[in-house]
This record gives sequence, structure tokens and C-alpha cells, in this order.
Amino acid sequence: MTAARVFVTRGLPVDARAVLGDGVEVEVWEGEAAPPRHVLVERARGARALVTLVSDRIDAALLDALPGLRVVSNYAVGVDNIDLAAATARRVWVGHTPDVLTEATADLTFALILAVARRLGAGERLVRSGGFHGWSPTLLLGRDLAGATLGLFGFGRIGRAVARRARGFGMEILYTTRSPVPEGVAEGARPVDKAELLRRSDVLSIHCLATAETLHAFSSTELFRMKRGAILVNTARGPIVNEAALATALAAGHLGGAGLDVYEREPEVHRALLERDDVVLLPHLGSATTGARTRMAEIALANVARVLAGGRPLHAANEFPDIIP
Ligand code: DGY
Repeated sequence: MTAARVFVTRGLPVDARAVLGDGVEVEVWEGEAAPPRHVLVERARGARALVTLVSDRIDAALLDALPGLRVVSNYAVGVDNIDLAAATARRVWVGHTPDVLTEATADLTFALILAVARRLGAGERLVRSGGFHGWSPTLLLGRDLAGATLGLFGFGRIGRAVARRARGFGMEILYTTRSPVPEGVAEGARPVDKAELLRRSDVLSIHCLATAETLHAFSSTELFRMKRGAILVNTARGPIVNEAALATALAAGHLGGAGLDVYEREPEVHRALLERDDVVLLPHLGSATTGARTRMAEIALANVARVLAGGRPLHAANEFPDIIP
């Protein structure tokens, strides 16, 4: 029997060859950026499994070019980079890595909230540029979080973990969600509709999935309906926010600041945002702790191993009606 081929589109923090063991031929793309599409097709030819990143676009054409594929295991919780319907139609499992990055991403969200509210980016730049000449009563005054209202757009695992942190900071917490929230997990937060969330939040943090419905869910209309002076934070997916509209709302003085970890055309960032002092910009670091990224790799590889052994992924993002969960 020939060894099953697995193509991994970037070096992971665990050794895929050691985890998948003998009998599996593993190739890891060691480039810093994603392999170009034609290279991916060439190198993954004959692969039964792909391990992919959020920056790899897996569409119907790619799936057709790799007919031997049985699983695409995304090294992420979000799978918006993968055409799920196309994979399901071709009986390709899609695996992902929920849960293990929830706390790390909620920490990073809170770091961004604090960084914008307390002007940490501007403070860092001031010290490094030699512009700090001693304590001053009015230097870089920020906002109090205690008593402020945090609005969570999306109240899944990460939204709820952010709510837990916000409670400790003495914030009032509101949320919107599409799916009912199980009893006992509201974390002291109150459900509202989107209009109220926009109107009342001093800090509005985005935690929904990127879907056709949430594309540009924060465009000019929504941004100008937000409370004057509010802060917008996005650690979910870039295309949920219209970056040009965000730059306009900030320039007009309607919003008081923004914290972004993800971008509409990642890794590109809208020029006007790069120039603003009231915006904190991070390079998609939500899950970037050694612990979270290691556990994500273990799950992504377990998803592959289980499909190669004839089972279903440990965490599947698609389902086949004829396969009992
Ligand atoms: C995810 O898991 O979806 C992140 O964006 C990558 O950590």
C-alpha cells in the first residue's frame, strides 16, 4: 500500500511528521508566505490531506485540481477561507480547531481594548521617539473602562470569554447573537438588538463569523450610528468592517479610536488607518500564544489522522448526512 500524502501549507509549532508517524508521507511548505496557487497544486498533487491556514483560499477549482483529497484541516477555528459547500459536495471533510484558542483570543481582544482606551500605541511611540520629558497631568489622557458599556457583536465562545474579562473591569456588557445563548452562560451580559448595541456601546468588539451576511456589517451607516467617541475593536475577520468607512468615521471625529487585529484585504491595511494615532494595529495575533498555537496544531493533525484512518475529524466544520456523527 502506498503511503498517504499530506501537504501542510506552512511550518507548524509541532513536527507534523512525528505526530502523523510512519506510513504517512508529509510535506511541509517552509516558505514565510503562502505557496502560490500553482505551486500548491503542484506540491499537493496526490495528497489525501491538506493542512491549511486562514490565508489559504480553498475553493472549488482547487478541490477539483486535487481529486484525491479526503480532508482539508484548517489550522484555525474560522473556516471562511474554505468553500464548505464545494468541499461537502466532493465528500471532503473540513476540520478546524475550536476551543483551544478561545482564552488567548479573548486576552488579545482585551489587550486591544486597553491599548486603544489608554492610548498605549501613542505612548510607546512618544517614549521611543525621545518625546517623553517627564510626568504631566494632561499627557495622553485615556478613558475609564469601569462603568463604561462594552458591546459584543457575536456571543459565541470568544465573545463570552471577553465578557468574563469585562466583568472584572466593572463594565456593563451588552451583546447581540444569532443563536440562543444557553442558560447560565450569559456572563452577566444582556442581549440587545444591533441598533441598541451601536447606540449604547462605549467599546464595541466584534466576535461573529465572517459570512455573506456579516460582510461589511460595520459600514458607514452602522459606524455613524455608533455612540459618538466610541471605540471599535475587531479580532474576528477583516471583511466584517469596511475599512474606508472606518477611516472616515475616525477622521470625522465620530469614533474615538479603533483596535484591529484583522484586515479587509489582509495583510494590506487601509493607508488612512496606518496614519492615525488613535488606531492600534496588530498583525493577526489573536491566537498567538505558544500554548494555543501548539494545541491548534495538535488538533489540526488529529483531524487529519482520524480521516486517514477512515473516521471523521475530531472537530469537523461540515457534515455528511449519511455519516452518523
Ligand atoms: C482563527 O483561528 O480563526 C484565527 O483567526 C487564526 O488564529
